[in-house]
Amino acid sequence: MRTVSARFNSTTTPNPSNENSRPAQTHFGFRTVDENAKEDLVKGVFSSVAPKYDLMNDAMSMGIHRLWKDDFVSLLNPGRRGPIKILDMAGGTGDIALRMLDHAREKYADRDTSVLVSDINPDMLKEGMRRVRQTMYHNTPQIGFQVANAQELDPDIFPDNSFDLYTIAFGIRNCTSIPDVIKEAHRVLKPGGTFACLEFGKVDNPLLSQLYEVYSFSVIPMLGSILASDRESYQYLVESIRRFPSQPVFAQMIRDAGFTTGQDFSGQGGAWRDLWGGIASVHLGVKA
Ligand SMILES: C[S@@+](CC[C@H](N)C(=O)[O-])C[C@H]1O[C@@H](n2cnc3c(N)ncnc32)[C@H](O)[C@@H]1O
Repeated sequence: MRTVSARFNSTTTPNPSNENSRPAQTHFGFRTVDENAKEDLVKGVFSSVAPKYDLMNDAMSMGIHRLWKDDFVSLLNPGRRGPIKILDMAGGTGDIALRMLDHAREKYADRDTSVLVSDINPDMLKEGMRRVRQTMYHNTPQIGFQVANAQELDPDIFPDNSFDLYTIAFGIRNCTSIPDVIKEAHRVLKPGGTFACLEFGKVDNPLLSQLYEVYSFSVIPMLGSILASDRESYQYLVESIRRFPSQPVFAQMIRDAGFTTGQDFSGQGGAWRDLWGGIASVHLGVKA
């Protein structure tokens, strides 16, 4: 798999001492690592958590991730304008994909909207396939799985202008180059298509921020240790949240890739919608 060349972006810094002999540096949680090592480190984390990923999501968020995901899906409202083609990138165990299909089916009797669930980690996708086998979507054209790196999608599998909606939930912060991911999303979306990202954000309220800090750094790694015997992976997940850009900075990155932001939240104002005081946020961008 191609490694991203030394490049300046939000998560990557060049090595000032000798740029030619050492790879650029980036963040892996709070650690600084060679840029070309990050992908494997992230893969290691998700291979390790894959079998317990869904259980741990419920435990760590006390079920709140379900509310956020439901809000995300309701906002996108698949099926409202007829069947659409969705790419759920970093889709992991298929949680967003299944919610999208259920929403379209239950609300609009839409049985033709389809989702391609894509992820860099085959272990996460295997869990997704296992889940889908227990649903009505198994062996239907409504759902498919594809291993891929969000930063460089194979044009034979992900052609230009081919999807109506690109979703990425809690995935983009794990990628080495966020701008490359958004650029690829822009390429594969049809004109008028929507980029939709659900990700952790920055909390403004000082009291909520303090509580959240304590919960994140004390409780989550401890739950990882007790429930999944894997403190380190959950420590990384918490650190990666802290490293992710603030909502205004991320919104600007979406605009820099050529998307228009803001109009979908016209009722709310602003280019993104905060959930739970900014613990999570939804960003949308529309391709002209
Ligand atoms: C926290 S999980 C989110 C899974 C799912 N979207 C959800 O909301 O439950 C993050 C996912 O991002 C995937 N990922 C990390 N880097 C990636 C990359 N460069 N390309 C595609 N997927 C990536 C991981 O393998 C993992 O499955």
